[in-house]
Amino acid sequence: MPLRHGVIAEDQPPSTGNRLIVQRREAIASNHPLRSFLALCDRTGAQGLAKRRRPVQNAAMLIINDLSLRMAGRLLLDHASLTLPAGTKAGLVGRNGTGKTTLFKAITGDFPSETGSISLPKNTRIGQVAQEAPGTEEPLLEIVLKADLERSALLEEEKTATDPHRIADIHMRLADIDAHSAESRAATILAGLGFDDAAQRRPASSFSGGWRMRVALAAVLFSEPDLLLLDEPTNYLDLEGTLWLENYVSKYPHTVLLISHDRDLLNRAVNSIVHLDQKKLTFWRGGYDQFERQ
Ligand SMILES: Nc1ncnc2c1ncn2[C@@H]1O[C@H](COP(=O)(O)OP(=O)(O)OP(=O)(O)O)[C@@H](O)[C@H]1O
Ligand SMILES: [Mg+2]
Repeated sequence: MPLRHGVIAEDQPPSTGNRLIVQRREAIASNHPLRSFLALCDRTGAQGLAKRRRPVQNAAMLIINDLSLRMAGRLLLDHASLTLPAGTKAGLVGRNGTGKTTLFKAITGDFPSETGSISLPKNTRIGQVAQEAPGTEEPLLEIVLKADLERSALLEEEKTATDPHRIADIHMRLADIDAHSAESRAATILAGLGFDDAAQRRPASSFSGGWRMRVALAAVLFSEPDLLLLDEPTNYLDLEGTLWLENYVSKYPHTVLLISHDRDLLNRAVNSIVHLDQKKLTFWRGGYDQFERQ
């Protein structure tokens, strides 16, 4: 199934004050089977060709400028600003109900701002676990492999392509994106999150909702977005899975923003903290314990 890329321009209504105009390009076609649980969007530009790009040192991945967010009449962010350097692994912390999850929604373009703007480099791919993987008859490994939309589209096109130049291009791009190692990479992630070889071949329908959240997480990690947003992943991971994720996040080749109340996870996985406090955002370098001492 070839992917179609449609642009959805979301102009905030005039009543929201400063207009944050989010040009959101859906990386997932409306009928794509992963669409429902894998929220993956390319907010600013063309297709996800930049996905294997290494982070540019010292460049900003996320610039939040003068942002105000209001939820059901209550101000959550009040003219807050933040610059997150590319490649940062940051923990997003703040008391319950202060607006961390809402901030994620604003970053993905799913929540309107009252003032200010959120900017990302052109072609940035954002990944997050939106909901559990659907309970289909598909084996887990297949579900995770399909999360690499570009690889899936290229393999699909390869089946019917007749133009030798196009076929050569497809093969070159598949090589560029390490398609040959896709299965072992997907299997490694699934194993880290608690699925042994036999489980990876079982259909999603044979797993409970909690386990299917892990499948959704595996799919997002496998798709390797430029900006990975994780909201309380320990809610659906056991200790082993959490330890594996800590290590994975700490070595992730792109930028991560991780909401967690788990001090150990934060201390081991991230190298900086974004503190949401008194409706403002503050960026601190260092782990959680270091942040607390400051
Ligand atoms: N759909 C909604 N309608 C009305 N109020 C909401 C809605 N969703 C969230 N809220 C409120 O908005 C505030 C911010 O919610 P949000 O979920 O962003 O906070 P949070 O920092 O992620 O909290 P937690 O640490 O508990 O996950 C909270 O007071 C919450 O009760
Ligand atoms: Mg939350």
